Amino acid sequence: MSAQKETSKLWGGRFSEPTDSFVQRFTASVGFDQRMAEQDITASLAHAAMLNNIGVLSDEEASQINTGLEQIRKEIASGEFNWSIELEDVHMNIEARLTELVGNAGKKLHTGRSRNDQVATDIRLYLRSAIDLIGIELSRLQKGLVALAVEQADTIMPGFTHLQTAQPVSFGHHLLAWNEMLERDYGRLQDCRERMNECPLGAAALAGSSFPLDREHTASSLGFRKPSENSLDSVSDRDFAIEFCSFAALLLTHMSRISEELVLWTSAQFNFVELPDRFCTGSSIMPQKKNPDVPELVRGKVGRVNGHLMSLLTLMKSQPLAYNKDNQEDKEPLFDSVDTVMDCLRAFGDMLPAIKPNKAVMREAARRGFSTATDLADYLVGRGLPFRDAHEVVGKAVAHGIASSTDLADMSLQTLQTFSAEIQADVFEVLTLEGSIAARNHLGGTAPQQVRAAAQRASERLAERES
Ligand code: ARG
Repeated sequence: MSAQKETSKLWGGRFSEPTDSFVQRFTASVGFDQRMAEQDITASLAHAAMLNNIGVLSDEEASQINTGLEQIRKEIASGEFNWSIELEDVHMNIEARLTELVGNAGKKLHTGRSRNDQVATDIRLYLRSAIDLIGIELSRLQKGLVALAVEQADTIMPGFTHLQTAQPVSFGHHLLAWNEMLERDYGRLQDCRERMNECPLGAAALAGSSFPLDREHTASSLGFRKPSENSLDSVSDRDFAIEFCSFAALLLTHMSRISEELVLWTSAQFNFVELPDRFCTGSSIMPQKKNPDVPELVRGKVGRVNGHLMSLLTLMKSQPLAYNKDNQEDKEPLFDSVDTVMDCLRAFGDMLPAIKPNKAVMREAARRGFSTATDLADYLVGRGLPFRDAHEVVGKAVAHGIASSTDLADMSLQTLQTFSAEIQADVFEVLTLEGSIAARNHLGGTAPQQVRAAAQRASERLAERES
C-alpha cells in the first residue's frame, strides 16, 4: 500500500506517513465545531451558487451539490451523520460526505475557498444567529422588569449607599435601574452584531483567490452587510468573538449585581421579597431552608464568562497575520459564553416577573434608619438656612434619634424645634416616606409619577426593537 493510500485526509497529497493518532485527536475540532454544521452548509450553498454564477460550476454540478448538501443537512439533523475525527473538523467532514454522495461535483466545491475563510464565515453566521436569539431573550427579561416596575411604582423601600439606609425610593425605580443596565447591554450586543456582520468568504487562505469571485453575491445571499475589506484581516482576527464575550462579561456582571440583591433581599434579615418556590431548592439537613439557587448560580456564572473573555484576549494576543491554528481555540469559550448567557437570561426572564415584594417589610425598613434626614435638611434650606448649617442641625436631630430610638417622623414638634426654631408643623409632610419620594419629581428621580413616565419610555424603546 502506498503511503498516500494510508491517509484518507483531504490534504493528504504531499504527506508520506499518516498522522500520529494522538496528534489527530489533539488537532481535531470536530468534537465541538460540529455545532456550526448548519452554518457550514448554508455558506457552502451560497459559495456554490456564486461559483455557478461566474461559470466555475456548471448548472448540473451546482444542482448536485445542492442536493447533496440538503441530504447532509437531514442526516445531521436526524443524528445519522457519521462524524469522523480523521476528517478533523466540521468543514472536512461535510465536504468528504458530499463527495461520497455526489462524486466529482463535491470535489469542486472547495474551488476559490479555504477552510480559513470558511471557518471565519461559519462562526460569524453562528454568532449572528446566537446574538439574535439572545436579543429576543434579553428583551423578554426587560419587558418583564418594566411591567413589574409599573406595578411597583408606589411601593416604598429603603435606597442604599454603602449598603446603609440612605433615602427612600420607589421599588419600581430600583427595578428600572436594573433595566437601564440591561438596556446598555442590549446596545452593546447590537453594536457587536453590526460590526461583525461582514462576509469573509473570498479571502480564501489569506490572499484572495485567482478565480473572479463575486463577493457581493455571497455576502448578500448570506445576509451580510457587505464583503469584508481585507483578505488577511478576514481570516485572522477574532475580535468579534472577543467583543461578544465582553458583552457577555458585562451582562453577567450586571446580572450578578441583581442576583446579589435578590440573595440579600430574600434572606430572613432583609425579607424584602419572596421568590416563588419553583426557583428555589431546600436543604437536605435544615428543614426550614429555602435557598435562592437561581440567583446564586447566575451570580457564579460570571466567573466562567469572565474567564472566556480572558481566554480569547490571550488567544489573540501577539498572533502574527494571517490565520493560525491557535484560532481553533476560539470556539469552546465562545460557545460556552453563548450557552451561559442564554441560560441565565432564560432563568431571569422566568423568575424576575414572579418575585413578590413584602411591601410592609420594605416600608418599615425605609422608616428605620432616618432615611428622610435629607428631606428635613432640604426643608430647612427652604426656610432660609444654608445647606451646610441645615446638615449640621439634622445631624444633631439624628444623634438624638439614635440615642432615644425615635425616628425623625416620630419626634414631637417641640423636640424638633430644640434643633432649629425654623421647624414648623408642616415639617411632618416632608418627613413621611410618601412625601420624600414624591418630592423627587424630575427626570430620573424616584417620584412614582416619574417612575411611571420612565417605564413608559422604556416600553416604547422595547417596542421599537420589534419594528
Ligand atoms: N478547524 C479549523 C479552525 O477551527 C478550521 C481552519 C483550519 N485551517 C487550516 N488551514 N488548518 O480554525
